Amino acid sequence: MGFEMKKKTKLIHSGIDTKKFAGSLTTPIYHNSTIVFNNYKDFLLAKRKRFSKLYYGRFKTKTVITFENIVKDLYKSEKAIITSSGLSAIIITLFALVKKNDHILVVENCYEPVSNFVKDEFKKFGINCDFYSSDFNENIEKLIKTNTKLIYLESPASLNYEVQDITRFVKFARKNKIVTVMDNTWSTIIGCNPLEYGIDIVIESATKYFSGHSDCFCGLIACSNRHFNQIFKTKVRFGDFVSSESCYLAIRGLKTLSLRLKQHHESAIKMYKYLKTNKNVLSILFPSVVENKNFKLWKKYHSTGNGLITFKIKRNGKKSLDFFFDNLKFFKIGFSWGGFESLILPLESLDPFHNCNDENGFWCRIHVGLEDVNDLINDIDYAIDNYEK
Ligand SMILES: Cc1ncc(COP(=O)(O)O)c(C=O)c1O
Repeated sequence: MGFEMKKKTKLIHSGIDTKKFAGSLTTPIYHNSTIVFNNYKDFLLAKRKRFSKLYYGRFKTKTVITFENIVKDLYKSEKAIITSSGLSAIIITLFALVKKNDHILVVENCYEPVSNFVKDEFKKFGINCDFYSSDFNENIEKLIKTNTKLIYLESPASLNYEVQDITRFVKFARKNKIVTVMDNTWSTIIGCNPLEYGIDIVIESATKYFSGHSDCFCGLIACSNRHFNQIFKTKVRFGDFVSSESCYLAIRGLKTLSLRLKQHHESAIKMYKYLKTNKNVLSILFPSVVENKNFKLWKKYHSTGNGLITFKIKRNGKKSLDFFFDNLKFFKIGFSWGGFESLILPLESLDPFHNCNDENGFWCRIHVGLEDVNDLINDIDYAIDNYEK
Protein backbone atom coordinates (compact mmCIF):
# COMPACT_ATOMS: atom_id res chain seq x y z
CA MET A 1 0.00 0.00 0.00
CA GLY A 2 1.37 3.42 -0.96
CA PHE A 3 -0.01 5.24 2.08
CA GLU A 4 -0.41 4.70 5.79
CA MET A 5 -3.89 3.76 6.98
CA LYS A 6 -5.52 6.29 9.31
CA LYS A 7 -6.56 5.10 12.76
CA LYS A 8 -10.28 5.19 11.91
CA THR A 9 -9.69 2.90 8.92
CA LYS A 10 -7.56 0.60 11.04
CA LEU A 11 -10.41 0.23 13.54
CA ILE A 12 -12.49 -1.26 10.75
CA HIS A 13 -9.91 -3.34 8.88
CA SER A 14 -7.42 -4.42 11.48
CA GLY A 15 -7.60 -8.10 12.46
CA ILE A 16 -9.86 -9.13 9.58
CA ASP A 17 -8.52 -12.14 7.74
CA THR A 18 -11.30 -13.44 5.50
CA LYS A 19 -9.06 -16.14 3.99
CA LYS A 20 -8.17 -17.66 7.34
CA PHE A 21 -11.64 -17.07 8.81
CA ALA A 22 -13.59 -18.84 6.02
CA GLY A 23 -14.92 -15.63 4.48
CA SER A 24 -16.04 -14.16 7.81
CA LEU A 25 -15.48 -10.45 8.46
CA THR A 26 -15.83 -11.06 12.17
CA THR A 27 -13.41 -12.89 14.44
CA PRO A 28 -14.24 -16.53 15.22
CA ILE A 29 -14.56 -17.33 18.93
CA TYR A 30 -12.22 -20.21 19.78
CA HIS A 31 -13.48 -22.11 22.81
CA ASN A 32 -10.48 -24.22 23.62
CA SER A 33 -8.60 -24.90 26.80
CA THR A 34 -6.37 -27.61 25.33
CA ILE A 35 -4.43 -27.03 22.16
CA VAL A 36 -3.15 -30.25 20.58
CA PHE A 37 0.03 -30.54 18.57
CA ASN A 38 0.54 -32.41 15.30
CA ASN A 39 3.63 -34.20 16.53
CA TYR A 40 6.44 -34.14 19.05
CA LYS A 41 8.50 -31.66 17.05
CA ASP A 42 5.59 -29.18 16.91
CA PHE A 43 5.03 -29.65 20.61
CA LEU A 44 8.65 -28.75 21.36
CA LEU A 45 8.45 -25.73 19.07
CA ALA A 46 5.24 -24.50 20.72
CA LYS A 47 6.83 -24.95 24.12
CA ARG A 48 9.79 -22.83 23.12
CA LYS A 49 7.52 -20.11 21.71
CA ARG A 50 4.76 -20.44 24.30
CA PHE A 51 4.45 -16.68 24.96
CA SER A 52 3.75 -15.87 21.33
CA LYS A 53 2.29 -18.99 19.67
CA LEU A 54 -0.64 -21.25 20.55
CA TYR A 55 0.33 -23.45 23.52
CA TYR A 56 -2.43 -23.67 26.14
CA GLY A 57 -5.82 -21.89 26.16
CA ARG A 58 -5.10 -19.99 29.36
CA PHE A 59 -2.06 -18.40 27.71
CA LYS A 60 -4.01 -17.40 24.61
CA THR A 61 -6.40 -18.70 21.97
CA LYS A 62 -6.50 -17.76 18.32
CA THR A 63 -9.15 -15.13 19.12
CA VAL A 64 -6.80 -13.58 21.67
CA ILE A 65 -3.97 -13.55 19.10
CA THR A 66 -6.23 -11.67 16.67
CA PHE A 67 -6.93 -9.11 19.39
CA GLU A 68 -3.20 -8.79 20.17
CA ASN A 69 -2.48 -8.11 16.49
CA ILE A 70 -5.14 -5.39 16.40
CA VAL A 71 -3.65 -3.69 19.47
CA LYS A 72 -0.13 -3.87 17.99
CA ASP A 73 -1.41 -2.38 14.77
CA LEU A 74 -3.27 0.48 16.49
CA TYR A 75 -0.60 1.39 19.03
CA LYS A 76 2.24 0.59 16.59
CA SER A 77 3.85 -1.43 19.37
CA GLU A 78 6.17 -4.40 19.00
CA LYS A 79 4.05 -6.47 21.35
CA ALA A 80 0.58 -6.58 22.91
CA ILE A 81 -0.83 -8.56 25.81
CA ILE A 82 -4.53 -9.03 26.55
CA THR A 83 -5.61 -9.60 30.16
CA SER A 84 -8.83 -10.36 32.04
CA SER A 85 -9.54 -6.71 33.02
CA GLY A 86 -8.06 -3.23 32.99
CA LEU A 87 -7.08 -3.59 36.64
CA SER A 88 -5.34 -6.93 36.04
CA ALA A 89 -3.38 -5.35 33.15
CA ILE A 90 -2.13 -2.62 35.53
CA ILE A 91 -1.33 -4.90 38.46
CA ILE A 92 0.42 -7.51 36.29
CA THR A 93 2.54 -4.83 34.61
CA LEU A 94 3.57 -3.18 37.87
CA PHE A 95 4.29 -6.49 39.54
CA ALA A 96 6.33 -7.73 36.60
CA LEU A 97 8.67 -4.75 36.55
CA VAL A 98 9.65 -4.38 40.20
CA LYS A 99 11.18 -6.51 42.93
CA LYS A 100 11.83 -6.39 46.67
CA ASN A 101 13.40 -3.10 47.86
CA ASP A 102 12.49 -1.27 44.67
CA HIS A 103 10.65 2.03 44.79
CA ILE A 104 7.94 3.31 42.45
CA LEU A 105 6.20 6.66 41.89
CA VAL A 106 2.46 6.66 41.25
CA VAL A 107 0.32 9.62 40.26
CA GLU A 108 -1.98 10.50 43.16
CA ASN A 109 -5.14 10.87 41.05
CA CYS A 110 -4.98 7.36 39.66
CA TYR A 111 -7.86 4.89 39.57
CA GLU A 112 -8.37 4.16 43.28
CA PRO A 113 -7.92 0.34 43.21
CA VAL A 114 -4.44 0.96 41.79
CA SER A 115 -3.43 3.18 44.71
CA ASN A 116 -4.96 0.66 47.15
CA PHE A 117 -2.91 -2.09 45.56
CA VAL A 118 0.42 -0.31 45.64
CA LYS A 119 -0.19 1.00 49.18
CA ASP A 120 -1.30 -2.29 50.78
CA GLU A 121 -0.15 -5.22 48.66
CA PHE A 122 3.25 -3.98 47.50
CA LYS A 123 4.17 -3.34 51.13
CA LYS A 124 3.91 -7.10 51.81
CA PHE A 125 6.57 -7.70 49.15
CA GLY A 126 8.94 -4.96 50.34
CA ILE A 127 8.21 -2.67 47.38
CA ASN A 128 7.92 0.98 48.34
CA CYS A 129 5.72 3.56 46.75
CA ASP A 130 5.31 7.32 46.82
CA PHE A 131 2.53 9.35 45.24
CA TYR A 132 3.17 12.48 43.20
CA SER A 133 0.79 15.18 41.96
CA SER A 134 -0.21 15.19 38.26
CA ASP A 135 1.56 18.40 37.35
CA PHE A 136 5.26 18.14 36.69
CA ASN A 137 7.03 20.09 39.43
CA GLU A 138 10.16 19.94 41.55
CA ASN A 139 8.38 17.58 44.00
CA ILE A 140 8.97 14.65 41.72
CA GLU A 141 12.71 15.36 41.82
CA LYS A 142 12.52 15.24 45.62
CA LEU A 143 10.59 11.97 45.60
CA ILE A 144 12.99 10.10 43.36
CA LYS A 145 15.37 7.63 45.05
CA THR A 146 18.34 5.61 43.86
CA ASN A 147 16.07 2.54 43.80
CA THR A 148 13.17 4.18 41.90
CA LYS A 149 12.36 1.80 39.04
CA LEU A 150 9.04 2.92 37.67
CA ILE A 151 6.82 5.98 37.21
CA TYR A 152 3.12 5.30 36.76
CA LEU A 153 0.97 7.90 34.96
CA GLU A 154 -2.76 8.14 34.33
CA SER A 155 -3.87 11.01 32.15
CA PRO A 156 -6.43 12.49 32.15
CA ALA A 157 -6.80 11.09 35.65
CA SER A 158 -9.80 9.36 37.19
CA LEU A 159 -12.59 11.55 38.59
CA ASN A 160 -10.86 14.95 38.35
CA TYR A 161 -9.27 14.55 34.86
CA GLU A 162 -5.98 16.19 35.82
CA VAL A 163 -3.74 16.11 32.74
CA GLN A 164 -0.06 15.16 32.80
CA ASP A 165 2.64 16.69 30.64
CA ILE A 166 3.71 13.33 29.25
CA THR A 167 6.95 14.33 27.53
CA ARG A 168 8.30 16.07 30.64
CA PHE A 169 7.76 12.91 32.69
CA VAL A 170 9.32 10.79 29.94
CA LYS A 171 12.39 13.04 29.73
CA PHE A 172 12.81 12.96 33.49
CA ALA A 173 12.34 9.17 33.64
CA ARG A 174 14.79 8.49 30.81
CA LYS A 175 17.43 10.68 32.37
CA ASN A 176 17.10 8.61 35.53
CA LYS A 177 16.76 5.23 33.73
CA ILE A 178 13.23 4.70 35.03
CA VAL A 179 10.49 2.80 33.17
CA THR A 180 7.23 4.66 32.45
CA VAL A 181 3.78 3.03 32.45
CA MET A 182 0.63 4.95 31.53
CA ASP A 183 -3.09 4.21 31.85
CA ASN A 184 -4.64 5.56 28.64
CA THR A 185 -8.24 4.44 29.30
CA TRP A 186 -9.73 7.96 29.27
CA SER A 187 -8.47 8.70 25.74
CA THR A 188 -8.28 5.28 24.11
CA ILE A 189 -5.97 4.76 21.16
CA ILE A 190 -8.20 7.04 19.09
CA GLY A 191 -7.44 10.08 21.25
CA CYS A 192 -3.80 9.54 22.23
CA ASN A 193 -0.91 7.16 21.68
CA PRO A 194 1.45 7.66 24.64
CA LEU A 195 4.05 5.38 22.98
CA GLU A 196 4.57 8.14 20.41
CA TYR A 197 5.54 10.49 23.25
CA GLY A 198 8.08 8.00 24.60
CA ILE A 199 6.05 6.18 27.27
CA ASP A 200 7.40 2.61 27.59
CA ILE A 201 4.22 0.71 28.33
CA VAL A 202 0.59 1.70 27.72
CA ILE A 203 -2.43 0.13 29.36
CA GLU A 204 -6.09 0.48 28.50
CA SER A 205 -9.15 -0.98 30.14
CA ALA A 206 -10.98 -2.29 27.07
CA THR A 207 -13.98 -2.72 29.38
CA LYS A 208 -14.68 1.00 28.83
CA TYR A 209 -14.91 2.86 25.47
CA PHE A 210 -12.83 0.32 23.56
CA SER A 211 -15.55 -2.36 23.80
CA GLY A 212 -18.24 0.20 24.56
CA HIS A 213 -21.28 -1.94 25.40
CA SER A 214 -20.87 -2.74 29.12
CA ASP A 215 -20.84 -6.44 28.38
CA CYS A 216 -17.26 -7.62 28.85
CA PHE A 217 -14.06 -7.21 30.86
CA CYS A 218 -10.67 -6.95 29.14
CA GLY A 219 -7.37 -5.16 29.62
CA LEU A 220 -4.68 -4.47 27.09
CA ILE A 221 -0.98 -3.77 27.36
CA ALA A 222 1.06 -2.34 24.47
CA CYS A 223 4.81 -2.58 24.94
CA SER A 224 8.17 -3.28 23.31
CA ASN A 225 10.04 -6.57 23.00
CA ARG A 226 12.18 -5.41 25.92
CA HIS A 227 9.38 -5.65 28.49
CA PHE A 228 7.15 -8.25 26.88
CA ASN A 229 8.62 -11.49 28.26
CA GLN A 230 8.66 -10.33 31.85
CA ILE A 231 5.08 -9.03 31.73
CA PHE A 232 3.70 -12.04 29.89
CA LYS A 233 5.46 -14.41 32.29
CA THR A 234 3.89 -12.63 35.27
CA LYS A 235 0.45 -12.78 33.62
CA VAL A 236 0.82 -16.55 33.16
CA ARG A 237 2.10 -17.06 36.70
CA PHE A 238 -0.84 -15.12 38.15
CA GLY A 239 -3.15 -17.43 36.21
CA ASP A 240 -4.73 -14.46 34.47
CA PHE A 241 -7.10 -15.54 31.71
CA VAL A 242 -9.20 -13.62 29.21
CA SER A 243 -12.02 -15.41 27.44
CA SER A 244 -12.32 -15.51 23.66
CA GLU A 245 -15.90 -14.21 24.06
CA SER A 246 -14.65 -11.07 25.82
CA CYS A 247 -12.05 -10.52 23.08
CA TYR A 248 -14.70 -10.99 20.41
CA LEU A 249 -16.94 -8.40 22.09
CA ALA A 250 -14.07 -5.93 22.47
CA ILE A 251 -13.10 -6.32 18.81
CA ARG A 252 -16.72 -5.88 17.73
CA GLY A 253 -17.12 -2.78 19.89
CA LEU A 254 -13.90 -1.32 18.51
CA LYS A 255 -15.42 -1.01 15.03
CA THR A 256 -17.63 1.88 16.18
CA LEU A 257 -15.23 3.43 18.71
CA SER A 258 -14.49 6.63 16.80
CA LEU A 259 -18.18 7.33 16.08
CA ARG A 260 -19.23 6.57 19.63
CA LEU A 261 -16.52 8.76 21.17
CA LYS A 262 -17.43 11.63 18.88
CA GLN A 263 -21.08 11.42 19.92
CA HIS A 264 -20.32 11.00 23.63
CA HIS A 265 -18.13 14.08 23.49
CA GLU A 266 -20.57 16.21 21.51
CA SER A 267 -23.35 15.39 23.97
CA ALA A 268 -21.03 15.95 26.94
CA ILE A 269 -20.20 19.45 25.65
CA LYS A 270 -23.92 20.24 25.49
CA MET A 271 -24.39 18.83 28.98
CA TYR A 272 -21.43 20.89 30.23
CA LYS A 273 -22.96 24.06 28.75
CA TYR A 274 -26.24 23.32 30.49
CA LEU A 275 -24.54 22.59 33.84
CA LYS A 276 -22.73 25.92 33.60
CA THR A 277 -26.07 27.72 33.48
CA ASN A 278 -27.57 25.91 36.47
CA LYS A 279 -27.05 28.06 39.58
CA ASN A 280 -27.18 24.98 41.81
CA VAL A 281 -24.11 23.50 40.13
CA LEU A 282 -21.11 24.88 42.02
CA SER A 283 -18.14 23.42 40.09
CA ILE A 284 -17.59 21.39 36.96
CA LEU A 285 -14.56 19.34 35.92
CA PHE A 286 -14.37 18.68 32.18
CA PRO A 287 -10.93 18.93 30.53
CA SER A 288 -11.82 19.44 26.85
CA VAL A 289 -13.16 23.00 27.11
CA VAL A 290 -11.06 26.18 27.01
CA GLU A 291 -12.20 27.29 30.48
CA ASN A 292 -10.66 24.20 32.08
CA LYS A 293 -7.25 24.87 33.63
CA ASN A 294 -5.86 21.76 31.93
CA PHE A 295 -7.18 22.58 28.47
CA LYS A 296 -3.86 23.59 26.87
CA LEU A 297 -2.08 20.52 28.13
CA TRP A 298 -5.03 18.34 27.23
CA LYS A 299 -4.99 19.70 23.68
CA LYS A 300 -1.25 19.05 23.39
CA TYR A 301 -1.72 15.30 23.73
CA HIS A 302 -5.35 14.43 23.07
CA SER A 303 -7.39 14.61 19.89
CA THR A 304 -10.79 13.43 21.20
CA GLY A 305 -12.82 14.07 24.31
CA ASN A 306 -15.33 11.73 25.91
CA GLY A 307 -18.55 11.66 27.94
CA LEU A 308 -17.19 12.02 31.48
CA ILE A 309 -18.06 15.07 33.58
CA THR A 310 -17.60 15.53 37.32
CA PHE A 311 -19.54 18.25 39.12
CA LYS A 312 -20.58 19.58 42.49
CA ILE A 313 -24.21 20.28 43.39
CA LYS A 314 -25.26 22.79 46.03
CA ARG A 315 -26.38 21.02 49.18
CA ASN A 316 -29.94 21.46 50.36
CA GLY A 317 -29.60 21.24 54.15
CA LYS A 318 -33.20 20.04 54.52
CA LYS A 319 -33.24 17.19 52.02
CA SER A 320 -31.37 13.90 51.73
CA LEU A 321 -29.49 13.09 48.53
CA ASP A 322 -32.14 10.50 47.57
CA PHE A 323 -34.17 13.44 46.31
CA PHE A 324 -31.52 14.02 43.65
CA PHE A 325 -30.27 10.54 42.79
CA ASP A 326 -33.64 8.76 42.89
CA ASN A 327 -35.31 11.33 40.67
CA LEU A 328 -33.02 10.48 37.76
CA LYS A 329 -34.55 8.33 35.06
CA PHE A 330 -31.78 7.85 32.47
CA PHE A 331 -28.68 8.29 34.62
CA LYS A 332 -28.49 4.98 36.49
CA ILE A 333 -26.29 4.75 39.57
CA GLY A 334 -23.41 2.40 38.82
CA PHE A 335 -19.68 1.90 38.41
CA SER A 336 -17.69 2.00 35.20
CA TRP A 337 -18.19 4.15 32.10
CA GLY A 338 -17.60 4.06 28.37
CA GLY A 339 -20.68 2.00 27.51
CA PHE A 340 -23.62 3.25 25.42
CA GLU A 341 -25.62 4.22 28.49
CA SER A 342 -25.65 7.20 30.83
CA LEU A 343 -24.42 6.55 34.36
CA ILE A 344 -23.98 8.54 37.55
CA LEU A 345 -21.67 7.85 40.46
CA PRO A 346 -21.94 9.62 43.85
CA LEU A 347 -18.38 10.51 44.94
CA GLU A 348 -16.69 10.74 48.31
CA SER A 349 -13.35 11.91 46.99
CA LEU A 350 -11.80 13.22 43.79
CA ASP A 351 -8.53 11.44 44.48
CA PRO A 352 -7.75 8.50 46.78
CA PHE A 353 -6.57 10.78 49.61
CA HIS A 354 -9.04 13.57 50.36
CA ASN A 355 -12.77 13.76 51.03
CA CYS A 356 -14.39 16.14 48.59
CA ASN A 357 -17.88 16.75 49.98
CA ASP A 358 -18.58 19.55 52.44
CA GLU A 359 -21.54 21.49 53.89
CA ASN A 360 -21.80 23.51 50.66
CA GLY A 361 -22.17 20.70 48.21
CA PHE A 362 -21.65 17.12 47.10
CA TRP A 363 -19.86 15.70 44.03
CA CYS A 364 -20.87 13.19 41.42
CA ARG A 365 -19.46 11.91 38.14
CA ILE A 366 -21.67 11.36 35.14
CA HIS A 367 -21.05 9.43 31.99
CA VAL A 368 -23.02 11.03 29.16
CA GLY A 369 -24.36 8.16 27.08
CA LEU A 370 -25.70 7.90 23.54
CA GLU A 371 -29.30 8.82 24.34
CA ASP A 372 -30.74 12.09 22.95
CA VAL A 373 -28.82 14.71 24.88
CA ASN A 374 -31.95 16.84 25.40
CA ASP A 375 -33.50 13.98 27.38
CA LEU A 376 -30.31 13.69 29.40
CA ILE A 377 -30.21 17.41 30.18
CA ASN A 378 -33.90 17.34 31.14
CA ASP A 379 -33.21 14.36 33.38
CA ILE A 380 -30.44 16.11 35.34
CA ASP A 381 -32.40 19.38 35.41
CA TYR A 382 -35.51 17.69 36.81
CA ALA A 383 -33.55 15.84 39.51
CA ILE A 384 -31.62 18.96 40.61
CA ASP A 385 -34.84 20.95 40.66
CA ASN A 386 -36.63 18.39 42.80
CA TYR A 387 -33.74 18.21 45.21
CA GLU A 388 -33.27 21.95 45.57
CA LYS A 389 -36.86 23.16 45.89
C1 LIG B 1 -8.98 4.82 34.46
C2 LIG B 1 -9.30 3.38 34.73
N1 LIG B 1 -8.33 2.48 34.59
C3 LIG B 1 -8.56 1.17 34.83
C4 LIG B 1 -9.80 0.72 35.23
C5 LIG B 1 -10.00 -0.73 35.51
O1 LIG B 1 -10.67 -1.35 34.45
P1 LIG B 1 -11.51 -2.68 34.63
O2 LIG B 1 -12.83 -2.32 35.22
O3 LIG B 1 -11.56 -3.24 33.26
O4 LIG B 1 -10.71 -3.57 35.57
C6 LIG B 1 -10.85 1.63 35.39
C7 LIG B 1 -12.18 1.17 35.81
O5 LIG B 1 -13.08 1.95 36.09
C8 LIG B 1 -10.59 3.00 35.13
O6 LIG B 1 -11.56 3.94 35.27
